[in-house]
Amino acid sequence: MKTYLVTGGAGFIGSNFIHYMFQKYGDDIRIINLDKLTYAGNLENLKSVEDRENYAFVKADICDWEAVNRIFQENDIDRVVHFAAESHVDRSIKDPEVFVKTNVLGTLVMLNGAKAAWELPDGTFKEGKKFLHVSTDEVYGSLDEDGGYFYETTPYAPHSPYSASKASSDMLVKSYMDTYKFPANITNCSNNYGPYQFPEKLIPLIINNALQGKKLPVYGDGKNVRDWLYVEDHAKGIDMVMEKGRLFETYNIGGHNEKQNIEIIHIILNTLREMLPEGDGRRKLVKDSLITYVEDRKGHDRRYAIAPDKIKKEVGWLPDTRFEDGIRRTIQWFFENEEWMKNVTSGNYQKYYEEMYQI
Ligand code: NAD
Ligand code: TYD
Repeated sequence: MKTYLVTGGAGFIGSNFIHYMFQKYGDDIRIINLDKLTYAGNLENLKSVEDRENYAFVKADICDWEAVNRIFQENDIDRVVHFAAESHVDRSIKDPEVFVKTNVLGTLVMLNGAKAAWELPDGTFKEGKKFLHVSTDEVYGSLDEDGGYFYETTPYAPHSPYSASKASSDMLVKSYMDTYKFPANITNCSNNYGPYQFPEKLIPLIINNALQGKKLPVYGDGKNVRDWLYVEDHAKGIDMVMEKGRLFETYNIGGHNEKQNIEIIHIILNTLREMLPEGDGRRKLVKDSLITYVEDRKGHDRRYAIAPDKIKKEVGWLPDTRFEDGIRRTIQWFFENEEWMKNVTSGNYQKYYEEMYQI
């Protein structure tokens, strides 16, 4: 039985990944979830797995060497899936420091924990061990509107403190692979959406605001493009790279689903109107007139788009979920989990929202 150490498993993608893995492997794997539970970490995301005998949660900071090393020393970890990070660009613009601490120094601690546990006296590594570093396409910078894609060979050109910190963490992982032949892969994925996404990100923020008849903030001209992937397809890609990816390689993950932000907002509004039953009071709140153009994000990257050729060819990964279906599943999930949304948007979220959006 393989033991996975998942960092950041209480966040959006991490929790979806844990659900995906238990659905796929059942009792044949063991997962230890290491998470500090920042504002973005939520154990409610994992309610349905918390009683499993093959699941354990450890509340700790990835920057805490003692805590990280203890986990590696007390458990025979086979795989690390490293999600834990500060993940929101707008927050990184306001307060970059914690991004460097968690994303860069935290990744270093994780690498050192795995290296100490897996390295043999002759400097090689135990068989079958792998560290998968989960990263973003934002490290490649911004594309022009009229063409081009991010390939694994695209030079890094991050613009935001978030993407700069992720780029730095990728470089550290690359340096461990090059210097020590440390067994790892890096995946760089495009924008995810789906259940459990914190409503500071575009899609859940728009769903949540629209259902309450609140303004829908659009940065700049609304024509920035993101390449959206349903989170379960990302989870599947990570698992497949873990199993089939060649050691020391980077794989881009994306499903060729580019959309302008304003298109996304219209799709959400139309889908909400379609899906809300007749007589539901929220129907009349969902209006196009809620769309409100606000000041642009500083350094706002214009377009991201992944070329997923390598992961398709080498690993056999393809996305399963079309955007039309994924967005409906996501909206349905938010309909069924109103309590989740209420809980995460109480308290500190209000303060964040008021400071971030003066609308
Ligand atoms: P998230 O913000 O929803 O979750 C991050 C998780 O990490 C939270 O559970 C949080 O508590 C935990 N965490 C933060 N700091 C920590 C620390 N110091 N120690 C331990 N745990 C800590 O993020 P997400 O959207 O799920 O993203 C997960 C990973 O995937 C990140 O590395 C991100 O860069 C990457 N990624 C995200 C996207 C996306 O669209 N969201 C796309 C590509 C890659
Ligand atoms: P976001 O979900 O923050 O992801 P990222 O910045 O990592 O791509 O934003 C997605 C796009 O939506 C991005 O171009 C910024 C834009 N955006 C808005 O227009 N309004 C908003 O309120 C938010 C949060 C994002």
